[in-house]
Amino acid sequence: MQKITKLFILGLFVSVSFKVAAQSDTIPYHEDYRPQVHFSPEAHWMNDPNGMVYYNGIYHLFFQYYPGGTTWGPMHWGHAESRDMIHWKQMPTALYPDSLGYIFSGSAVVDSNNTSGFGKDGKTPLVAIFTSHDPKGERAGKNDFQNESLAYSLDNGTTWKKYSGNPVLKNPGIRDFRDPKVNWYASERKWVMTLATQNHITFYSSPDLKTWTKESEFGRQLGAHGGVWECPDLISLELNGEKFWVLIVNVNPGGPNGGSATQYFVGQFNGNTFTPVDNEIKWVDYGPDEYAGVTWGNTGARKIFLGWMSNWEYSGQVPTIKWRNAMTLPRDLKLKNINGKILLASEPVSELKNVYGKSYTLTDVKVLQPLSLSNKFGAMPRQYLLKMNIRQLKSYQVSLSNSKNEELLIGYDSKKEQYYIDRTKSGKVDFNQNFSGRFVAPRLINSPKSDITIVVDNSSVELFADDGLTVMSCVFFPNEPYRKLQLTSSETVTINSLRLIDLKSIWP
Ligand code: FRU
Repeated sequence: MQKITKLFILGLFVSVSFKVAAQSDTIPYHEDYRPQVHFSPEAHWMNDPNGMVYYNGIYHLFFQYYPGGTTWGPMHWGHAESRDMIHWKQMPTALYPDSLGYIFSGSAVVDSNNTSGFGKDGKTPLVAIFTSHDPKGERAGKNDFQNESLAYSLDNGTTWKKYSGNPVLKNPGIRDFRDPKVNWYASERKWVMTLATQNHITFYSSPDLKTWTKESEFGRQLGAHGGVWECPDLISLELNGEKFWVLIVNVNPGGPNGGSATQYFVGQFNGNTFTPVDNEIKWVDYGPDEYAGVTWGNTGARKIFLGWMSNWEYSGQVPTIKWRNAMTLPRDLKLKNINGKILLASEPVSELKNVYGKSYTLTDVKVLQPLSLSNKFGAMPRQYLLKMNIRQLKSYQVSLSNSKNEELLIGYDSKKEQYYIDRTKSGKVDFNQNFSGRFVAPRLINSPKSDITIVVDNSSVELFADDGLTVMSCVFFPNEPYRKLQLTSSETVTINSLRLIDLKSIWP
């Protein structure tokens, strides 16, 4: 009898512990492929970041969200909040489809002067400006099914009310008429809307967010036009005391490595028109997996960019089960003068330090034979940061791999002067024919010195090279986590300093 009880208890214990082990993959935010230092929705489909605005110590991130499934569907605005842009808390869904249609992409502003009149009892309104997309009009073959609408919040972004006078900007008959980004143009005390209008940008202005006047158009003959223009942004940045304007324009398809990507123009904006300083095509991020990137509003001189870490070519087929797609890390933007060209550089925000864990350092390592960092420091965690400084740049390669011989390669090719990420043998690649590939990006500076920061997070890598002049984001889906990390070089490179930093998960 006693023996049977013991066996029963043992059996219970085995079955309980087995269940715990089997379930660990389904603990919220700890499933297979779940990013640990990037925002992703707890469940369901997500695309573009929307309404990014900083207010009262909180960074708001709204996003294109379909709470009914893991593929794109009737669009809502999901909502998340953060105090440091690294740790996120998903909030109740902010905006639901209505009689004017789905809630497509847009922006949000702090209407401090209550120009809209939505403020009440001294409460400052947050105002969201978004596209109402009418699917019935689209199906009926109309051209004017996208119009711009407003919603406002008087409780710091928690709950939202749609404006009864929607839409506030009517479509003049342009099929793609969407993704309004609104900024306060202080010198003329007016709002400026940057709107994606098919193959160009249209600027509008308004005293009160409710009535809009067309100012000008930009870009029919400039920039990359492999696809439709979407999700623009207009920001000012200083370079050595001189003010420039940067116009960000997302394009899909037509990116440098196929599919969707973010281009930018540097120029001047006078409140009415944007004039670029040159005619070159430039990219914020050359990797396959950054799209719809825009910046936070109300952050003063600091400009912080965040994109959707996916690509319309396969975003609906990536092998995650409970949710689909994450955001990139937030990135600080800066302008740099490189041999007379004004270029945008981006680097992870310094707040990322909030998740720094243990770190390991090496100096002056000559990479002759393959150097295994995982043999030196132990099996790699799922998320970490690798920083390397090189005084005499030569070809090198960083490889992440597992026991199934699946690998992700990141490197620099000195002959071609290109950085690259190769996910050809990275694991699951067959879910879409455009997923597998080797992606390249130019080195934009001509100096023997180089630095590179690589942020790995379970199923993504972001590469920031040469102080953020060349950036690439790329997702991957191995059949077993990459526990090995190795450096190789065909030209015997010396890494003058190398720092490997474990990153702590942002999820409980
Ligand atoms: C860009 C985009 C936007 C649109 C939204 C719809 O990814 O196509 O132009 O507003 O997604 O979800």
